[in-house]
Amino acid sequence: MAPRVFVSRVIPEIGLRKIQQHCDMDLWTDPLPPPREELLRRVQGCHGILTLLTDTVDAELLDRAGEQLVVVSNFAVGFNNIDIQAATQRGIAVGNTPGVLTDATADMAVALLLAAARRVVEGHRYTLSGQWKTWEPLGHIGQDLVGKTLGIVGMGRIGLATAKRLHRGWDMKVLYYDIRPNLQAEQELGAQRVDFDTLLENADFISIHTNLDDSTRGLFNREAFRKMKSTAVLVNTARGPIVVQEDLRWALEQGEIFAAGLDVTDPEPIDPQDPLLRLPNVVVAPHIASATVTSRNRMAEIAAQNLLAGLEGRPLVAWVNPEVEPHWRARKNASS
Ligand code: GLV
Repeated sequence: MAPRVFVSRVIPEIGLRKIQQHCDMDLWTDPLPPPREELLRRVQGCHGILTLLTDTVDAELLDRAGEQLVVVSNFAVGFNNIDIQAATQRGIAVGNTPGVLTDATADMAVALLLAAARRVVEGHRYTLSGQWKTWEPLGHIGQDLVGKTLGIVGMGRIGLATAKRLHRGWDMKVLYYDIRPNLQAEQELGAQRVDFDTLLENADFISIHTNLDDSTRGLFNREAFRKMKSTAVLVNTARGPIVVQEDLRWALEQGEIFAAGLDVTDPEPIDPQDPLLRLPNVVVAPHIASATVTSRNRMAEIAAQNLLAGLEGRPLVAWVNPEVEPHWRARKNASS
């Protein structure tokens, strides 16, 4: 009998087709995520679940699914929506989609950095509203980029790809803050690993690329913004709660920093009435960094591969919790 799976949103066809060929698939076709109660209902009796970053996968959901659940495949590189410990404790494998959205996300970080530093969106609004009357020698002055200092928070795949672009394209000096050294960044870009305060105090541009966890939640708060240069630009393409959004608004209003470019907010979506959106020096995109044809297709393929591998008790292509292996339900179910 084909394994039962729940897929919580329509993902690119290349992934769905693969899942459909091998599984009894229940697909949530609404453009909005399944409400919590619906999600809890739909996962019952499933062997596998394909989730998005908008679905909270916690102990309650895993228990509701039942003992037959062997794999959760997240259609995202980030997995802060999943309680990994709860999954591991229950013998459930968790997969994600790293690597295939690195370039797309780094491109977006650079796009936001440029847009915020050179006031592109503010200028667009100015044009639309009919305020453009003449060429202004003193108007719309932004920040220079060439030869400036870039601070990367989280020098993983995406941090490195962003740093490469800005070091090679704009000759930026690279500082980074990470719990682990990144030798490739140090050797190829001359990047220097520094403590958080040194990065805040010296960087002209700061781009966030770290996971969201207890150690990074609220990392950018009033205290951090006070330490940054008044000309600094902050870019966040990682997760909204790494930045205390109210404190960011304060920093932008007070001129503690120059501007911000965000692809992620807290919460998502941000309330359209949120006063942050009224500020001229912030650019906010609706969490679209991985939204390119190649990235989304590859994410769908990997998410499907992870799901199918998990169902068959094979190692996941991208396995968030390989430590589950010795007590993985997929193994136990097969041998019992
Ligand atoms: C998107 O934010 C992802 O984690 O893939």
